[in-house]
Amino acid sequence: MGLPLGDIYGGNLTPAGKLKDWSDTDLFRLIRTGVNKNNRATIMATLKGAQSLSDEDALAVIAYLRTSPPVKGETPEFNPTILTALFVGAGLIPWDTPSSVSPVTAPPKAANAEYGRYVLGFMDCSGCHGPKLDGNVPPPNPPAPDIRGFTSALTKDEFFSLVRTKAAAAKPTDVMPWRFIARLDDVELEALYLYLRGVTR
Ligand code: HEC
Repeated sequence: MGLPLGDIYGGNLTPAGKLKDWSDTDLFRLIRTGVNKNNRATIMATLKGAQSLSDEDALAVIAYLRTSPPVKGETPEFNPTILTALFVGAGLIPWDTPSSVSPVTAPPKAANAEYGRYVLGFMDCSGCHGPKLDGNVPPPNPPAPDIRGFTSALTKDEFFSLVRTKAAAAKPTDVMPWRFIARLDDVELEALYLYLRGVTR
């Protein structure tokens, strides 16, 4: 599937880097719980989006990482994707280790609101726009608008072009992850649009 994988990572996540010392099980647990193979919480623990990836999609992320062309040495441009965080800040806080992780399934991929809800989950829009997506989030979160209301006023084409225009103009300091969202494929983006509009099908 067209996961918003990003091309580049904060640590070397290609098979030439640390990844070779991690089993698929270690990686799966890290994605799902934020706890690394040394039983330490990483910044991944705060990324609710990664935790809502279905089992299948989490495995696809791992397979993707394993098959990326090896890159030796330095880390190029920084892009804040869920994968960026995999090894960033590892091992800072001791953590109770969950002994197992519950299965997560995704609805079939389709341009409908049900799938949009899943996309919204792994993109963690509500982390910044609030559980009701109305911009009602407590500090220290930055102010973010009501995105249901905002999206209802747009046609699908307007929504698509907003995402692309914003992504093209995005600056590294922007809080809103436009470039990340622009990596969604058309089905995922339309599903997201339909969910935000509250169209149930
Ligand atoms: C890390 C926090 C964060 C996340 C995650 C996030 N947003 Fe935002 N979003 C913001 C902030 C802050 C703004 C206001 C500034 C701006 O428009 O760049 C914003 C603005 C917006 C706007 C208004 C654009 C405009 O032109 O006024 C839309 C639509 C939007 N977000 C949709 C989404 C969707 C959909 C997701 C999930 C796929 C999402 N956001 C995830 C922080 C976030």
